[in-house]
Amino acid sequence: MNTINEKLLGINIDHIATLRQQRGTRYPEPIQAALIAEQAGADLITVHLREDRRHLPDRDVGMLIDVLQTRMNLEMAATPEMLSIAKRIGPSDCCIVPERRQELTTEGGLDVIGNKNYLRDFCLELKEAGIKVSLFIDADERQLDVCQEIGVPAVEIHTGHYADAKNAQKQKALLQIQQAVEYGSNLGLQINAGHGLDYHNVLPIALIQPIKEYNIGHSIISRAVISGLAAAVAEMKRLISSAENCTNPGG
Ligand code: PXP
Repeated sequence: MNTINEKLLGINIDHIATLRQQRGTRYPEPIQAALIAEQAGADLITVHLREDRRHLPDRDVGMLIDVLQTRMNLEMAATPEMLSIAKRIGPSDCCIVPERRQELTTEGGLDVIGNKNYLRDFCLELKEAGIKVSLFIDADERQLDVCQEIGVPAVEIHTGHYADAKNAQKQKALLQIQQAVEYGSNLGLQINAGHGLDYHNVLPIALIQPIKEYNIGHSIISRAVISGLAAAVAEMKRLISSAENCTNPGG
């Protein structure tokens, strides 16, 4: 059970699936990764079901919903196809993100102002299906005003620009996030944050009191690859060396 002021960590497991999809193998298995993350303390599991299914196919999302002991935060574009998938699968949370096929990863926040009426109806349908909605937006007070106006309970502030910025620009981006979080929190919105957060840049963001959930993927999966590499090499070396004593190589 989470306490009211506790900061929550959502682990984005898309990158495990990316590794698997690259070779069409059965490993690494994102479901297994999600369960390990939960066991290690993750408060929720985040997955992005992209329109092009570049990492997770529908099968993963369907299986995950059956085995997770925490909750699923389904990131998705605001399309009719995704709406019907979300309603069928029933994650506890949905984070609506903009999506462009050519992008490497989600590159900017939603334009809630420009799509106000569409997003209001879209989010209402999710709410009626019992799903808590957040909108992924840049640190922009005008966007926050409209999020409140259309009645969403939560937003996720895009931290990618802060993560990418250098020197004075980084300070500026941080200040923008701090101000937006304060502003959005005063509007009564739950504020989450994510994108590009890593072991070097997360602390100033973690210090921003009202932020409730942090959705982090790439840096954690990358750290896991490097941390586990020595043991993985040693295991393969042992296996190859043991062939000397093997009498039945086929078996
Ligand atoms: N939050 C959102 C809305 C995202 O689209 C992503 C990337 O899928 C993340 C968080 C996680 O970003 P990263 O993998 O850079 O930690």
